[in-house]
Amino acid sequence: MVETKYKKQLIPYIDFRREYQSYKNEFDQAYFRVMENGYFILGNEVLEFEKEFADFCESKFAVGLGSGLDALILCLEAWGIGIGDEVIVCANTYIATAFAASRLGAVPVFVDVHTKTFNIDVDLIEAAITERTKVIIPTHLYGQMADMEAINSLAKKYNLKVLEDAAQAQGARQRGEICGTHSDAVAFSFYPTKNLGAFGDAGAVTTNDPLLYDKLLYLRNNGSKTKFYYDYIGYNSRLDEIQAAFLKVKLKHLSKWNETRNYLAGIYNTGLKGLENIILPSVEEFNESVWHVYCVRILDSKRDELINFLKAKGISTNIHYPHPVHLQNYYQDLEYGLGDFPIAEKLAGEILSLPLSPFHSEEEIIQVVNTIKLFYKEN
Ligand SMILES: Cc1ncc(COP(=O)(O)O)c(C=O)c1O
Repeated sequence: MVETKYKKQLIPYIDFRREYQSYKNEFDQAYFRVMENGYFILGNEVLEFEKEFADFCESKFAVGLGSGLDALILCLEAWGIGIGDEVIVCANTYIATAFAASRLGAVPVFVDVHTKTFNIDVDLIEAAITERTKVIIPTHLYGQMADMEAINSLAKKYNLKVLEDAAQAQGARQRGEICGTHSDAVAFSFYPTKNLGAFGDAGAVTTNDPLLYDKLLYLRNNGSKTKFYYDYIGYNSRLDEIQAAFLKVKLKHLSKWNETRNYLAGIYNTGLKGLENIILPSVEEFNESVWHVYCVRILDSKRDELINFLKAKGISTNIHYPHPVHLQNYYQDLEYGLGDFPIAEKLAGEILSLPLSPFHSEEEIIQVVNTIKLFYKEN
């Protein structure tokens, strides 16, 4: 018998089995539909999902892809970004944001984040722009969008493209508008943990630009739109039919799931309020977060102790991200060092992601709150 990867935890950080069990019939139907159709690459499931996801994002086009990393790379490639170009990214993000630029030979230029939102500090972007800058990639971290009004106005001033990394922000809103059309292109990941996650790797780009849309259709399919005719060097980065079928099921529930996340985040906000050594997440008044991650700052250098305390009580947590991108081994050659992005570096030592998903109960969140309070009572 194959051993399961899941260990028994009282309160898991995430547990996909809960999701499957809650919607088993819908997922099983989607699975059997694809198997019985016997069609697995770029068929109707993908077409339908693309249409539904574009509608959800209120965008003209959506292109299903193999991953969020590919969504970023293919947009940059479609715009001709490569050697000699600079791409602005924030210093507290998942590595893929920077790797997308590096993969094409461009240089990621890091910008520090804001202590309040942990998103790119828009006041620091202008100083990072040079004549080689071509694109700004803001990451909408933890479910809250970076300030697109400020970013777009800088992009306009310097004639730059903007590519949103919305891997963590499906359904987020800014100034009332849903994430998916605030800029030239928006890259999504459907990695299983995301608010809209596949049961495997998947991603997408939304855009209102018909030229970009068309180019992405080529690039994801070995540079071809007509079988055996190749117009570009492309990638094999197609969204699978089976994943599209699962994503169609999940998309129907996404808004409700995001509401549940918001509700559970509210329980954390109220329950943890007033604890001296914890800074709670802060959402700008013009944003509606979809709470991909509920991330607190632990100020008293007791993060490891708290993690172990929670673990001993069966509660698992995470750190997004423990080691800033500019300090990763791969980027040694860029000669960034400790102290270059003080906020991102400070956050890396303080942040802690608490369990939060639509499949956690109110009681579980209250239990996490009470266990954290107990820790501070005893320590
Ligand atoms: C902010 C961010 N960007 C990009 C990615 C890359 O997505 P994927 O894992 O689908 O390639 C992720 C996912 O982990 C992410 O969180």
